[in-house]
Amino acid sequence: MKLGIGISAAIAVVAILTIAMLTMAGWDRPPIEAVQSGFRGVGLEQVFNPRDVRDQLDANEVPEPFWPLEDVDMTTPKAGEIYENVEVLGHLPDDQFNRLMSALTEWVVGDAAACDYCHDTANFADGSMYTYQVSRNMLKMTQYLNSEWAENHVYPTEGASGVTCYTCHRGQPVPPAIWFEDTRPATGIVGNFTGQNTPSEPAALSSLPFDPYTPFLEKDQDIRVHTLTALPSGNESTIQQTEYTYSLMMHMSTSLGVNCTYCHNSRAFYKWEQVPPQRASAWYGIRMVRDLNNDWLVPLQPLYPDNRLGPNGDAPKANCTTCHYNVYKPFFGENVTGPYPSLMQPGPTREANLRVE
Ligand code: HEC
Ligand code: HEC
Ligand code: HEC
Ligand code: HEC
Repeated sequence: MKLGIGISAAIAVVAILTIAMLTMAGWDRPPIEAVQSGFRGVGLEQVFNPRDVRDQLDANEVPEPFWPLEDVDMTTPKAGEIYENVEVLGHLPDDQFNRLMSALTEWVVGDAAACDYCHDTANFADGSMYTYQVSRNMLKMTQYLNSEWAENHVYPTEGASGVTCYTCHRGQPVPPAIWFEDTRPATGIVGNFTGQNTPSEPAALSSLPFDPYTPFLEKDQDIRVHTLTALPSGNESTIQQTEYTYSLMMHMSTSLGVNCTYCHNSRAFYKWEQVPPQRASAWYGIRMVRDLNNDWLVPLQPLYPDNRLGPNGDAPKANCTTCHYNVYKPFFGENVTGPYPSLMQPGPTREANLRVE
């Protein structure tokens, strides 16, 4: 009898240990589901676990507006007539202006009453805090993304998602997914290993080059590496470039929470004729992130205090995860800009090309 209990206990322990080991090894408890996302028979499939999707849905809830847009008193005087130092939002009625101030405080600081994160509350017009100056650029940047990149990425159809401060910030002053130049050497005593065998988050812990961001999301290194003939004939892409490309692709898949087959027909990764439209969104996404980094985020470098800069003194930059948070569309495509039309395009008070001043 005692022995029996001993054996069942041992079996239970072994079973628990086995499950623990499998879990650590990346094993996912069933059910695993697959959906086709392309023409049947071509293996354009997405594999997912409904449990993870439920967790993601919970983590991607959008805060409710403080009061509905319909209740905003549009007859209040314009902010530009009441306040001294409004450059971006001066055309908004005061009620709408205040509603946006409360919303962006909740989005960026996580507490709608924390006006002092950007303001000297004894004098709201004082613009000396760096957070205030960064925010003014962020307001312009958000309007720019929602207008210049609307059709090709963030707002392709009426009622699509769009971008607010919350898309990146999620209630935190420093968005969780930002990147800096990697300071680890890509060469060692044994020669140039082009950043390989140094597992890194960007490359999904693979042994691919550890920093795909600098060449592709800040600089514009070519991403077409495929050879279309059996023998060497004119393709000048190196093996290293190919490895870097795969490293970027690991980042893109992870940041969208999808398999490679979300954008590619894996029988011919290079082919554009046999892919779903998502690949085009991704192509534009890459260009948008380059634009975002070079024209908006990198120029903010002089405004930040040292503790916000990277080890090389470079400014914090964006990648696909900064907005996507491992979901194919931020907030699963929920329309976040509807209640905030003032974030959709630059107001009339602003020169179209005004950026960091
Ligand atoms: C994340 C930074 C940030 C937070 C937090 C913030 N503001 Fe602002 N605020 C700004 C920026 C940027 C401007 C300038 C907008 C422009 O140029 O159109 C501004 C302008 C103002 C002005 C106009 C001041 C003047 O006289 O020119 C008022 C009033 C104001 N905010 C109130 C608030 C209130 C109230 C809160 C808290 C509910 C708040 N703000 C929270 C960034 C912030
Ligand atoms: C595309 C993504 C993105 C969007 C959209 C965005 N931000 Fe940012 N924001 C960033 C990044 C990246 C940083 C740099 C993080 C840091 O300061 O270390 C940043 C920094 C800031 C900071 C400085 C925080 C600190 O403590 O250093 C403020 C304030 C801020 N943003 C306000 C805003 C406001 C207000 C909006 C909306 C009008 C907005 N952001 C929209 C990406 C974004
Ligand atoms: C979100 C969409 C997306 C996902 C997911 C994705 N890719 Fe890509 N991939 C692209 C785009 C877009 C390009 C072309 C980029 C360009 O031309 O600037 C590309 C290019 C490539 C190329 C170069 C093709 C050529 O013409 O030389 C290869 C190889 C590749 N991807 C492999 C992969 C692999 C492997 C995965 C999974 C780990 C993957 N991709 C995941 C969108 C995606
Ligand atoms: C500034 C925020 C932002 C950044 C950064 C960003 N995206 Fe997006 N992306 C969006 C939004 C918003 C949508 C949803 C548009 C809609 O509602 O249809 C989207 C949609 C997409 C889609 C279409 C998905 C589908 O199922 O139709 C793809 C693919 C995509 N993004 C790829 C990328 C890639 C790859 C990167 C990085 C190179 C990237 N995105 C960076 C905001 C962003």
